[in-house]
Amino acid sequence: MKIKKKKLAAAKSIEFIKDGMTLGLGTGSTVFFLVNKLSELVKQGLNVKCVSTSNQTSDLAKSLGIKIVNLNEVDKIDLTIDGADEVDKNLNGIKGGGGALLFEKIVSAASKKVIWIVDSSKYVSKLGKFPLPVEVIPFGSNHLFTRFIESGYTPAIRKNGSEIYITDSGNEIIDLHLNEIEDSLKLEQEIKLISGVVEVGLFNNIANMVIVGKENSTEIISRE
Ligand code: A5P
Repeated sequence: MKIKKKKLAAAKSIEFIKDGMTLGLGTGSTVFFLVNKLSELVKQGLNVKCVSTSNQTSDLAKSLGIKIVNLNEVDKIDLTIDGADEVDKNLNGIKGGGGALLFEKIVSAASKKVIWIVDSSKYVSKLGKFPLPVEVIPFGSNHLFTRFIESGYTPAIRKNGSEIYITDSGNEIIDLHLNEIEDSLKLEQEIKLISGVVEVGLFNNIANMVIVGKENSTEIISRE
């Protein structure tokens, strides 16, 4: 019952939202529940403005009456709440399963505090089972693909049906099937240095808190 766990985590995260805040809204099916809960509070008078990490989240939030502003219009984001695909005990994670990793990382970097909401299946001892998304510019992306094969990273170009998947920024995503990541900091740096790579879905030292949704409760894990 992942849905129930996602809902519980999303509901718990609402407790950290205060009136007057500028919020960052992540992307994905867990954030869907957050945005719906938030809209209920907004209808009851909560005053917040939000920066979104994707067209998907912007469309949903606006349709529910939540104010969306551009990142360039705000000095700082008080709190960003986002999902994640995998999180380890150091609160490092893999994100980008929904394709929004670039904006998610930019919005997180502009945030005073970042909370991830996940179901318990995503809290893992080692990152890497979930394929690592790498956003690349389309120019020459086949060459990056070959390079990833040569590095033993078992790449797959993300597809949307029979078409190549295109991100909100007009880029492609290559998912790396690594199975296990030994050193997530080293790997993030290594991949980011490759020309043509726009962003990598390793989010190291970004989340301050993770809310894990369980069967009937939530667990809060905070960075020390
Ligand atoms: C979006 O690109 C991702 O980083 C999501 O935050 C992540 O995939 C979690 O998505 P779900 O909440 O749908 O599992």
